[in-house]
Amino acid sequence: MKYSVKDIEDIIYKYLPKEEGYPVTVLTAMNYGFMAGGKRLRPMMMKLCYDMFIDKDYRDADKIISPFMAAIEMIHTYSLIHDDLPALDNDELRRGKPTVHAKFGEDIGILAGDGLLNYAYETAAKAFSEKPGSVEIEKAYTILASKPGIYGMIGGQVLDVIMSGKEVDEKQLEYIYLNKTSALIECAFMIGAYLGGASKEDVDTLCMVARNVGMAFQVQDDILDIIGDEAVLGKPVLSDDKNNKFTYVTIHGMDSAKDYVSSASKEAVSMLDTLKVKNEKAKSEMKDLILALINRDK
Ligand code: IPE
Ligand code: IPE
Ligand code: MG
Ligand code: MG
Ligand code: MG
Repeated sequence: MKYSVKDIEDIIYKYLPKEEGYPVTVLTAMNYGFMAGGKRLRPMMMKLCYDMFIDKDYRDADKIISPFMAAIEMIHTYSLIHDDLPALDNDELRRGKPTVHAKFGEDIGILAGDGLLNYAYETAAKAFSEKPGSVEIEKAYTILASKPGIYGMIGGQVLDVIMSGKEVDEKQLEYIYLNKTSALIECAFMIGAYLGGASKEDVDTLCMVARNVGMAFQVQDDILDIIGDEAVLGKPVLSDDKNNKFTYVTIHGMDSAKDYVSSASKEAVSMLDTLKVKNEKAKSEMKDLILALINRDK
């Protein structure tokens, strides 16, 4: 079964908080940012990794993976809301709509990001009561705590913002991309695989696959920042130029950036090919998804 954006949204929307009580403004802003649109790639990839390993007749299966799928998309959405803030990239369009701070004010933008980040962990923690004492859930939760953090996504964002307007070398660029972008994709792959019952070795292989997918994904994002169509992309073009960012494209040029996206994605697919899984169909859908991202226009 191939997942559509709607299939994934049907799962993750169930976990959104109710818009009520004194903090209703921030709850509304959290749900607005979350439901604005988006490709839902991280929960989709998490589910595909899970499907590769799971015994199909495991009945409670979806109750365990679903809260983690919602949680990773909440964390990703928070990272976008904060990335768009005036103090960071200062962008006013996201997922085809005004950014959260543009619509609700900077104070609520900051708090909506905080709210989503914390609510992600409250949501994922629901899996514990579905299967008390599960070692796989413990491992998944630990990954959900670390990959988005200072030794992951936040670390990458920090170097990205402090190097704005400054010349970035090859090692710094790799650190930025591996952390600001690959880390959350690794997080999705590893959690899906662990919860599906994969071995540590298989999870390590999938982490390397995700690392390449993330690098390719960020370089393509940089390409689209220059040659993309704002109406299709749903976010402003030339944001990197506005913020004087050094990117893969400014350093290596457009042609070599396109070659890189293609070769890193194909490398990911050939690594995936070495993996023995229970459900070959899920693996082949993951390969198709990775290859389709090479030519994405949004
Ligand atoms: C945007 O991620 C941020 C990057 C890591 C480049 P996506 O391109 O996955 O954004 P949505 O979720 O589809 O809006
Ligand atoms: C940010 O990279 C990645 C995040 C961790 C949010 P960008 O700043 O290039 O992402 P976009 O282009 O705004 O989506
Ligand atoms: Mg940014
Ligand atoms: Mg940005
Ligand atoms: Mg970008």
